[in-house]
Amino acid sequence: MPAVTETEHPTADVVTMDKIVSLCRRRGFVFPSSEIYGGLGSAYDYGHYGVLAKNNVKARWLEAMVQERDDIVALDSAIILNPRVWEASGHVEGFSDPLVDCRTCKLRFRADKLDESQCGRKPSKHPGETPECDLTEPRAFHLMFETRVGAVEDSGSKAYLRPETAQGIFVNFKNVLQLARRKPPFGIAQIGKSFRNEITPGNFLFRTREFEQMEMEYFVPPAEADKWFEYWIEERYGWYRRYGLRESHLRVRPHEADELAHYAAAASDVEYLFPFGWSELEGIANRTDFDLKQHTDFSTTTLEYVGQDGERYVPYVIEPAAGPDRAFLAFLVDGYDEEEVAGRQRTVVRLHPRIAPVKAAVLPLIGRDSGMVEKARGLQQELRRHEIVEYDDNGAIGRRYRRQDEIGTPWAFTVDEQTLADDTVTVRDRDSLAQERLPIGGVRPWLDDALARDWKTPKG
Ligand code: GAP
Repeated sequence: MPAVTETEHPTADVVTMDKIVSLCRRRGFVFPSSEIYGGLGSAYDYGHYGVLAKNNVKARWLEAMVQERDDIVALDSAIILNPRVWEASGHVEGFSDPLVDCRTCKLRFRADKLDESQCGRKPSKHPGETPECDLTEPRAFHLMFETRVGAVEDSGSKAYLRPETAQGIFVNFKNVLQLARRKPPFGIAQIGKSFRNEITPGNFLFRTREFEQMEMEYFVPPAEADKWFEYWIEERYGWYRRYGLRESHLRVRPHEADELAHYAAAASDVEYLFPFGWSELEGIANRTDFDLKQHTDFSTTTLEYVGQDGERYVPYVIEPAAGPDRAFLAFLVDGYDEEEVAGRQRTVVRLHPRIAPVKAAVLPLIGRDSGMVEKARGLQQELRRHEIVEYDDNGAIGRRYRRQDEIGTPWAFTVDEQTLADDTVTVRDRDSLAQERLPIGGVRPWLDDALARDWKTPKG
């Protein structure tokens, strides 16, 4: 695992955020939200391929967290919880960012991120760097969205949209401990939406006000907390590598003491080198026994582990907290490539086959040839029972390949003249562009094998 010796270094890639945003729009991965009303700042809607790919990100996370292990169970808690939960967690009192306003350009900035922000009048400068900048004193800006529950608007009806999924897990600790018959070390995993009224959302899907989280709270005997903290850093770093992110673009950055959240004894971020610089994909924290103790105090329900031999303790919590939107963005950025093939430019997104929204395309070489169409349709019908597989007979074959390259489809099966004679098809590989011939009856097991194989990005 590379340590944090690198400072910001520009990527040699051709990828830019503008290219990713335009690819997402063009191919229907992601649209600006409520676009026909002029949009809403930093809110996005996922289209067909975006839904499929993000679902794959979440499925791979659940596989690694739940399916492949005996010690972690799943949960799906409510978004609106009893507001006392957020008092206990410290969010009501402390979940805020320091905000400054500029009286000249009327923009708002995070006081602790001025060096990452652009002055409203002179974008080459940071806020406060030009003589015209007139910044207010920092004040705390609360990040939780408030709402009302029920028909009566009184102070008792106030509630919050959850700013993290983690608290829904802590308040279910006792249920899981009893009903899932677990003993530490064990974990509870949850995927779901969270909401934060971010002061400076931006960089496309990277920071939005409504986003998803994939969080797992791992309850351990206190004496084992350091060991499990290191373990989960390795595991989570390995997960991003397993699904193809380049080693040169991935690192682990331990938090400085002054960066630690109020509940954390230690934390490290898995960071990716986006076109806008190294940024957090996931945080791994040692949350100690802070949350279970707070909820014990506020709810008066004792949240602790009691062993059969009478041993009792409040477990420590190691938390890997990731975001599928950020992971999806990183996979797109990492896979994006432009190259010349046979004298023509192609854009290709080299997604890991198990992240790619469409696993294969089935293409009749000549879209008007009824024999080829029938064979190709039949093959797609067979394959789609197991995987997302597209059929396309519209336009020149080269254009159809390009379209699949842009959405990251790893393989295309082409039905041609020879298929009609000997029931074989060609399979074209998105990355190497190599083609081989297969018997049509062998396509299904071939695809199963190909999806089960390890995959490494050819970008090195
Ligand atoms: N329970 C701990 C926690 O919420 P966090 O670092 O604030 O920690 C965890 O969030 C992950 O959630 C982040 O690493 C990121 O992937 C995702 N995330 C957080 N805020 C986000 C935002 N505004 N937009 C998109 N993803 C976000």
